[in-house]
Amino acid sequence: MYPRNSLLLVVWLIIPILFSTGLAFLSTIMLDIAVLSQQGREKEMHDLADSLGLEIVAKSSESGFLIQYDPENRLTIHAKSVPGSPVYVEIAELNKARGKDPLMKAIGYKTRSVFDTTAGWASDAMHIAGHNIMVTACERNPVIFALIRDGLKRCADAKFSNNLSLICADSAAALLEIESQPDVVYFDPMYPAKTGSAAAKKKLQILQELYRLNRYSHEQPNQDEVRLLEIARSVASKRVVVKRPHHAPAISPNPSGAVSAKLVRFDLYSPL
Ligand SMILES: C[S@@+](CC[C@H](N)C(=O)[O-])C[C@H]1O[C@@H](n2cnc3c(N)ncnc32)[C@H](O)[C@@H]1O
Repeated sequence: MYPRNSLLLVVWLIIPILFSTGLAFLSTIMLDIAVLSQQGREKEMHDLADSLGLEIVAKSSESGFLIQYDPENRLTIHAKSVPGSPVYVEIAELNKARGKDPLMKAIGYKTRSVFDTTAGWASDAMHIAGHNIMVTACERNPVIFALIRDGLKRCADAKFSNNLSLICADSAAALLEIESQPDVVYFDPMYPAKTGSAAAKKKLQILQELYRLNRYSHEQPNQDEVRLLEIARSVASKRVVVKRPHHAPAISPNPSGAVSAKLVRFDLYSPL
């Protein structure tokens, strides 16, 4: 009698332990994206994970995407499926001569304000802000937004940093509530990268894979590109500029013009 009872007791004790260990193990291997708890930055990383609604992990092998600081104090994201990451927001350099810069030709050198609806890695936003244009860059993915905010902190000395402000929101909603009308609304929706440098492809791939995770409920599928373009046209006072790869059709038929670059073109739409 006595040994049988003890056996039952042991079984009753062990089952919940095995169950909870199993659950913990499963949740570890199933983490899609996490923040690394780094020595000396424990509180900062916990706060970041909390603000992004992500788990914090102790080891870099525990998730598909990992957010951490690199030795140069840059906030980075590493994707297991993308060789050569981590990547971070780089400070754009103004290296294109006036007249040889298709993006600026599309935006217009005399433009005073731009609303960038798809901030991403913020390279276009920084480039435009570098031309003494006030840019509001809007990004709806909170993880990417955290990376941009860190990039902007790092470039506090750059001349353009005072021209650039950031919003974490869906651009359609933000544009509908905007108080002062921007001259130009800029739109660079995601598309599969067929061309471009390896670094650019890697960055785009990370954005696409983050998007596929569908972590944040306000990230709607891109079916709303046409709607966003319409809202943009109703808000911009001068024009809307849409970046497209050469092989992709225009988002909306009959743009009023286009500026062609080596790898992409910029479709222009007049205000509605
Ligand atoms: C192709 S990337 C833009 C790259 C950017 N032009 C650059 O220079 O790095 C598109 C980005 O727009 C964001 N995005 C897409 N639709 C959006 C929307 N409706 N509101 C805000 N951000 C959006 C995506 O999360 C993604 O980060």
